[in-house]
Amino acid sequence: MENITKHPILEIPDKKNIEFKFHGKPLYGFEGMVISSALFLNKIKIFGHHVKDDSPQGLFCANGQCSQCNVIANGVPVKACMTPLTEGMMIERCNGLPELPSEDVRVEVRDINIINTDVLVIGGGPAGLSATKVLGESNIDVILVDDKSKLGGKLVLQTHKFFGSQKDVYAGTRGIEIGKILGDVVSNLKSVKIWVNSIAIAIFSDGLVGIIKDMDKYVLINPKYLLIAAGAREKMLVFPGNTLPGVYGAGAFQTLVNRDLIKAAENVFIIGGGNVGLIAGYHAIQAGINVVGLVEALSQCGGYKVHEDKLRRLGVPIYTNHTVISANGQDKLESITIGKLTDSWDIEPGSEKTFACDTLLIAVGLDPVDEFYHKAQQFNINVWIAGDAQEIAEASAAMFTGKIEALKILKEIGVPNSENLEELEDLANLMKAKPPDPVQTEVIGKEEGIFPLFHCNQEIPCNPCTSVCPQEQIKTVDDLITQLPYFIDDQDCIGCGKCVAVCPGLAITLIDYRKDKESPVVTFPLELTSEKFEVGRTVMVVSNDRNLGEFEVTRARFLKEFPKTQLVSVKLPSEIAKTAVGIKLMQSGYTEAMNLYQQPYTDDDIIVCRCERVSVGEIRKWIRNGVHDFNELKALTKTGMGACGGKTCTSLINRIFREEGITQENIIPGTKRPLFVEVPMGVFAGIKTKKGGK
Ligand code: SF4
Ligand code: SF4
Ligand code: FES
Ligand code: FES
Repeated sequence: MENITKHPILEIPDKKNIEFKFHGKPLYGFEGMVISSALFLNKIKIFGHHVKDDSPQGLFCANGQCSQCNVIANGVPVKACMTPLTEGMMIERCNGLPELPSEDVRVEVRDINIINTDVLVIGGGPAGLSATKVLGESNIDVILVDDKSKLGGKLVLQTHKFFGSQKDVYAGTRGIEIGKILGDVVSNLKSVKIWVNSIAIAIFSDGLVGIIKDMDKYVLINPKYLLIAAGAREKMLVFPGNTLPGVYGAGAFQTLVNRDLIKAAENVFIIGGGNVGLIAGYHAIQAGINVVGLVEALSQCGGYKVHEDKLRRLGVPIYTNHTVISANGQDKLESITIGKLTDSWDIEPGSEKTFACDTLLIAVGLDPVDEFYHKAQQFNINVWIAGDAQEIAEASAAMFTGKIEALKILKEIGVPNSENLEELEDLANLMKAKPPDPVQTEVIGKEEGIFPLFHCNQEIPCNPCTSVCPQEQIKTVDDLITQLPYFIDDQDCIGCGKCVAVCPGLAITLIDYRKDKESPVVTFPLELTSEKFEVGRTVMVVSNDRNLGEFEVTRARFLKEFPKTQLVSVKLPSEIAKTAVGIKLMQSGYTEAMNLYQQPYTDDDIIVCRCERVSVGEIRKWIRNGVHDFNELKALTKTGMGACGGKTCTSLINRIFREEGITQENIIPGTKRPLFVEVPMGVFAGIKTKKGGK
């Protein structure tokens, strides 16, 4: 079994073993797990084979969106990533098309309950929770629906501390804890009903919303107001080998590792240097997984510099101006080939490098899950939208937009509130803003006393370091949250270490010249182990770009308020004390390129619609033949007609149109499906779904 037994941040709960059979072989998973996680736990990554070309199928989104993870459980096809594992479950790969059940018994048709509520909130992530909090605190009847077993949405995956401000978005607190805090608050609000494990499947023209409650019972909700906070889905990317098992979204990886505590990989490679890719890399290292490298097509990573620095200082090679050429392997991923991009975005001949890895994380952005919103608008329903469904941004921005949209609903209902909407919208926009280029900061000349050093040189919306200092000695320029922090130095720093421990970017060190000016003591934050370091042990001290050498630990401590961040103090020669930014624990391995012959690929080898196995070549051929209508493309190739309903391939096909010089206004969009997820027909007649999907 490949479960995580030690983690620097996450608690490892005792969970009951659940026995199941995979093709007749007895295996174990843990209580509360979904099937896909139980299979990964047992190193099974191939969940089936496609009917069209027998290609191996596996996990991609782990979020119910892509429909790639079908298996047969107790004789019924189900999405492995959304279906809870149960005792004695019989699981098989879904090879080809699943057989239809031989239903020759008369089914019992039931009435469907209609439930009235003031507000229906779809999505229990940061935006949905913040909105529900505001509405519930005003005593408004709310039903909050979420398709997972636990509230929190993407917060449940985020073991890192948050940026933003402490006052508004719990900055300095970890995402997992924020999810719990908000979840507890809304669970205690009298006017709020929480339906987890419940999926919104359709919005109807009469204003009713169809929900499968508890994964089992179909009900209709008649809300006066609807708030969509359904989050986002991960974008796919087209390259040869993109559908091999082992190639999946960074969010799926975080689900396996941080939610379900599975050591899902040995060696991962990451595509995309935005915050999602950078953070996934750091989460991998925290789980003891080697990060072989990260490619970013642009000349610099788009994520926060402090996240990038965390990876660089742990020795992860970041290949900017590079892209993935292919994912290689027979039945599963075995290696990845990358190449350097020229100014005209071609691969520079001879720059190809191949690295062995078992997992490739795609972190090239997210698409909003906004179908519900558009459908509701089409039917003139009173609808609002918040969080990633409204605009892709950090979870802290989603908390703001959830609150803002809830306040707008309150206004519409006629409930007074004293919040300044304009101010909140300005703050939300600050949180959504793309990070600017880092700036050059001056190294402080002072070499006496004790003070914090800020290795934080990008103007991102963040300021928890200014809130924790008991001496009130840390400020940002002009007190603006987007400006850089500095030490005021008109009162003594008492060396409490709170600023070091609170910083989500791990970008503050404390430097103490009081005992020895030649060898000051430098204190670093460490989040790579929960074991307290012994005084006298040696550790590798690093700057942002190199190892500085091994030094002895002089002190190690955890502060009560920040129990997962160890403060490790080391005596360093003064010439390196100010460039030292952290401590490295594990050696990265397998970063050497392999000697592998790179076979040439054509567009016909690259899959764009993974549900129907349609290649880029096929789509391009029809576009070049003058087809600009998605519905026609569907009829000709079946693209977009697969189980995911085009959620995964539509944006990729739009990109092929653009590559072929067809502008957006000249593309006729496809007809959207009335249902958002696949459901058995009997659901609408009130036939019980028999947990697990029938
Ligand atoms: S170590 Fe404590 S007293 Fe010193 S600057 Fe940081 S928070 Fe303030
Ligand atoms: S130094 Fe301050 S402003 Fe910069 S990342 Fe850390 S907490 Fe945020
Ligand atoms: S992996 Fe299960 S639906 Fe995407
Ligand atoms: S990828 Fe699902 S329909 Fe195209």
